[in-house]
Amino acid sequence: MAVLDPRLKELIDGFHEPLDDELKKLRDANESDGVPLIMRETEGVLHLLLDLIRPMHILELGTAYGYSSLFFTKLLPETHVTTVERNPFMIEKANEVFAKHSESCRIDLREGDALETLLTLRDEMSANKDKYDFVFIDAAKSHYRDFLDIIEDITTEDAYIVCDNILLKGWLVDRQGKEAKRHRTNIKYMRQFLDYIKDRDDLEVTILSCGDGMAVIKRK
Ligand SMILES: C[S@@+](CC[C@H](N)C(=O)[O-])C[C@H]1O[C@@H](n2cnc3c(N)ncnc32)[C@H](O)[C@@H]1O
Repeated sequence: MAVLDPRLKELIDGFHEPLDDELKKLRDANESDGVPLIMRETEGVLHLLLDLIRPMHILELGTAYGYSSLFFTKLLPETHVTTVERNPFMIEKANEVFAKHSESCRIDLREGDALETLLTLRDEMSANKDKYDFVFIDAAKSHYRDFLDIIEDITTEDAYIVCDNILLKGWLVDRQGKEAKRHRTNIKYMRQFLDYIKDRDDLEVTILSCGDGMAVIKRK
């Protein structure tokens, strides 16, 4: 099951315009090599949000080959990005990609597990480091709830927290297929995360059914 009918997805994807030729080449290469990266629709929503919000300090969980980090820094020429990745192969590839782009002087790639790195970042905040005003969670789908608690400590009051893949290809409501059964742990924890943010009266939550589903969270 897909979140969106594939025919509608194709139609929407037709509107995707790469920010520049370098990102186009990187997306094409990632897609043909099966490297995970933000979907075109997801990029469109991020583009819109970032254009409106113009954050200065972005935190991203899940770097992969660095496509989205590069997208953020190219779109926002003065913004700094901290991105976290634990897979050594992805880290090597992301470093190779970053070495080819001048924007990467504004990208801080943190190697390690997202939860542990968040704790480190929280410790660093006590040394007067700027808080993040935009967070993009794109890793470790069973841990979004754990991430959120720490993220709230290291973000500005008006920060936006965007969570990708929250509808898990529709498995959240259709658990019968083989794939859904294989991902039942992710489904269980994602459902708990969604219930949690829904019940929090102090959060403004918008759920978007584009891409693989996105949640946009902001403190009231
Ligand atoms: C969907 S990909 C990220 C794609 C990237 N944001 C982009 O659009 O170019 C998710 C990445 O998160 C990493 N990851 C998964 N669990 C993680 C964890 N607990 N800590 C850090 N990275 C993790 C994976 O290795 C993978 O590279």
